[in-house]
Amino acid sequence: MTTKHLHIKTFGCQMNERDSEIMEQLLAQHGYLPGAAAEQADLIILNTCSIRAKAEQKFFSLLGSLRQEKRRRPGLRIVAAGCVAQQEGERIFERMPHVDIVIGTQQFWRLPEMLQRLERGESKREIACGLDKQFVIPPFQKLLRNAPPALPEFRKFVTIMQGCDNYCAYCVVPTTRGREISRPVADILEEVELLVSHGVKEITLLGQNVNSYGTTNPVADRPVSFAELLKMTAAVPGLRRLRFTTSNPQDLSTELMRCFAALPNLCSHFHLPVQAGSNAVLQRMHRKYTRELYLEKVAELRSFCPDIALSTDVIVGFPGETEEDFAQTMSLLETVRFHGSFSFKYSDRPGTRSASFPDKVEEQVKDARLERFQARQDEISLERNQEFLGKTVGVMVERRGESELQGRSGSNHIIHFAGPDDLQPGDLVMVTINHAGQRSLKGELAASEN
Ligand code: 5AD
Ligand code: SF4
Repeated sequence: MTTKHLHIKTFGCQMNERDSEIMEQLLAQHGYLPGAAAEQADLIILNTCSIRAKAEQKFFSLLGSLRQEKRRRPGLRIVAAGCVAQQEGERIFERMPHVDIVIGTQQFWRLPEMLQRLERGESKREIACGLDKQFVIPPFQKLLRNAPPALPEFRKFVTIMQGCDNYCAYCVVPTTRGREISRPVADILEEVELLVSHGVKEITLLGQNVNSYGTTNPVADRPVSFAELLKMTAAVPGLRRLRFTTSNPQDLSTELMRCFAALPNLCSHFHLPVQAGSNAVLQRMHRKYTRELYLEKVAELRSFCPDIALSTDVIVGFPGETEEDFAQTMSLLETVRFHGSFSFKYSDRPGTRSASFPDKVEEQVKDARLERFQARQDEISLERNQEFLGKTVGVMVERRGESELQGRSGSNHIIHFAGPDDLQPGDLVMVTINHAGQRSLKGELAASEN
């Protein structure tokens, strides 16, 4: 088998990162070596995101810039994969004829075969559009993990479910990723055990809506709630840290909240997207909770885990959002005082219900609201970070910088500290925080947790 060089550029969420890793693993079995620079690669895969227009534009502009490269090296293969590929399909060939393969979110396993057929000279129109949404979570995810990684890695994602049945009015995910489906518990646990046996210390369970794991369209061997799955995963011997993302407030159960008090290796961080603080907007977004219910869930969560760090997603300028509605989002921020948030300007997406809603908010108004939200969040993040001053927290080492080590607390804060040369990524240490910035914390090594 001749060695070929592979370059993957991943846009979007952790699910896409994991999908890129799956493609890498699959292609490695066919002689493709990952990690090449684009200019040296025989195969370039762009794994795309379609969540906002901006993400899609970034992909098309990068793809456009590869036209020259393809002209220079006609043997280069270019693949458009993932969410934009699923959404746009063959239209990508029309706009960008230098693309060889368009492959959606469900058909990665066909890549090696598609590449081989292209090499045999078959027409790309015949073979190169893998958009079938037949929804499977192939068992090869687990099998590919049988081989120990070339380099030890301490942190991995494990997909537990895919797709989404919620149909929020603004969201393209049900179109690009299909209906919700859960993986069997036994597969998930086996994969986690394998990873831990290869030296992995931290696992993040992934899904578009993990809280409804096993309740909709389960392929599970027996019905298991997400909380039960968490307990079983946390019990895998040798697993030091467990995280999950992402959650829908409507499905957040008391049973799940209790896990934060009961499972010592479950990290004390919860990402709970609220999207908006106004009930009128939440209703039009087709979010199935109210502001009041969200606040009740937060209070209950804090009753089980008072120090839990909370982060959220917010959309500003949803169609019809008034100043009063936006003030409700600002006041929710004041009430919850999130440790951090991801905030976005509303963006029309093809095939979503809100794309056809009237009363679109002007771009300048959206800009101004986003700026106000982010400025206040930045102040609150700094104040929240200052609450860590003098506290000693468990930190998992991530990497060695020029003069310091960088790690992460269970609360998901980045922590800088000085430490001995023998500390390795994945080691757990205790650090006493002595400086709080807006984006990160600094501290001094206390005693080792190991
Ligand atoms: N416009 C802006 N933001 C969006 N998100 C999802 N769809 C849109 C859209 N059409 C945001 C939501 C979601 C996050 C991943 O992206 O806040 O939680
Ligand atoms: Fe982007 Fe959503 Fe697709 Fe993730 S699932 S890549 S966030 S569109």
